[in-house]
Amino acid sequence: MTARDPHRFVAELDDATIDRLINRLESRGKDAVFTRLFDAYVARMRLSPSAQILEIGCGTGVVVRTLARREGFSGRVTGIDQSPAFIETARRLAAEEGLDQHVEFRVGDAHALEEEDGRYDAVIIHTVVSHVTDPLSVLREAARLVRIGGMVAVFDGDYESLTYAYPDHAVGRAMDRALVETAFNNPLVMRGMAQLLSDAGLELEETLADVVAEIGTGSYFVSMAETYAPMISSSGLLPAEKVDAWLAEQHRALDWGTFFAACNYYAFLARRPVSAG
Ligand SMILES: C[S@@+](CC[C@H](N)C(=O)[O-])C[C@H]1O[C@@H](n2cnc3c(N)ncnc32)[C@H](O)[C@@H]1O
Repeated sequence: MTARDPHRFVAELDDATIDRLINRLESRGKDAVFTRLFDAYVARMRLSPSAQILEIGCGTGVVVRTLARREGFSGRVTGIDQSPAFIETARRLAAEEGLDQHVEFRVGDAHALEEEDGRYDAVIIHTVVSHVTDPLSVLREAARLVRIGGMVAVFDGDYESLTYAYPDHAVGRAMDRALVETAFNNPLVMRGMAQLLSDAGLELEETLADVVAEIGTGSYFVSMAETYAPMISSSGLLPAEKVDAWLAEQHRALDWGTFFAACNYYAFLARRPVSAG
């Protein structure tokens, strides 16, 4: 059996797995690591209060809601995702927060969106390119939908650098590898992002790089392990006993204050050039 990135094949997942992913997206959105990384690159985008913003691959709408609830925001944030279940959750959560006036959600495929050219001031693609079938097509769609001079922001992890401490190093490496294979269709995509953006007709303006590490305590990487480790055994990549022992060790390390996990993350900010018309 082989592992299949669940975010790439959301339509094929059972209800329990969809619920697990919804909970993961929502809890991740409240995590201090997520907030710090997101705030850092969004600040650099210098979005105007009346901006028309598109998020491609919006999941349950964490990013859309964060942008829409900003003090003085009078624009509109549109979120598009392939998953009807995620979009339904996104609509409900935004309505519960009273954000309806400033948000809208649609089901759609990031590779071929039914949106008008140049309609948005900014396009955000947050932890999506590592999951899609063809990153370049998605970036071409972003380049088409942003107005001339508008900004496209792409944020994701360099998941080949994802690692957790484990006393048996050989098993630890195998688990790191299995996690990456299970969760990400394109774990190396951010290494080629400068070329992909150029191929999509966008001009790179700025990059931000972060080593995210949780040492002693953990939440972001703990939730990641809890979400994806069970999928390693169910896909047959590693035996269930090995995966269970590894997960138990992560929880033990957390209790004892010896937890260690890390991964590199990057944000790329690019513009649709004026000359390209
Ligand atoms: C890790 S989630 C990120 C969600 C959201 N951006 C966030 O940060 O909370 C990846 C998202 O990409 C979406 N996705 C993957 N492939 C897609 C495609 N071809 N078209 C639209 N959405 C897609 C998944 O459904 C999922 O919601």
